[in-house]
Amino acid sequence: MVETVKLHDKSFEIFIHQDRIAEAIKKMVNKVEEEVGDDNPIFIGVLNGSFLVVADFVRQYKYNCEVSFVKMASYVGTGTTGEVKTLLGINEELKGRTVVILEDIVDTGNTLEKLIELFADKELKALKIATLFYKPEAYKKSHSIDYVGMEIENKFIVGYGLDYDGWGRNLPHIYQLKE
Ligand code: IMP
Ligand code: MG
Repeated sequence: MVETVKLHDKSFEIFIHQDRIAEAIKKMVNKVEEEVGDDNPIFIGVLNGSFLVVADFVRQYKYNCEVSFVKMASYVGTGTTGEVKTLLGINEELKGRTVVILEDIVDTGNTLEKLIELFADKELKALKIATLFYKPEAYKKSHSIDYVGMEIENKFIVGYGLDYDGWGRNLPHIYQLKE
């Protein structure tokens, strides 16, 4: 296992081993199976970061389910708030369906808020939010998160789908920015 990685101008050190990631995913799968079960849920991954979460999550889900993706990008505007754009939206008919959003990380919650707006007029049966990582100190919104894999401190991480300026998504473990 590589202890330190360099991505662009920054160094990152090992933070969460892939075995602990797998345990956190399994814990989420078990919970969702208990609560959502055989309701033919549609899991919606949020590109780009959540592609590995979705891949590992759905391969363990034991009931019939569907999988789709949306693509969101956050931009830091000229003001203090981040602006989130929808680059790829929903095409499926979702009326009466149970939707479970699968996120890699919830930080400020800006992306999550925008995501919830996307589903607001879809007449869903239920909307559940699941995220592998959650930074409680950074979260600024009030919407509750149904399933959390792991709470982490408010520091920048990469790996397992998460990037620093495009790099690091391929790392199997999570690395934390060295300061
Ligand atoms: P938000 O602040 O909750 O809207 O998070 C926005 C997005 O920023 C997330 O979906 C991730 O793509 C990215 N992000 C937030 N925290 C981190 C991090 O620690 N490392 C890498 N990407 C992050
Ligand atoms: Mg994301």
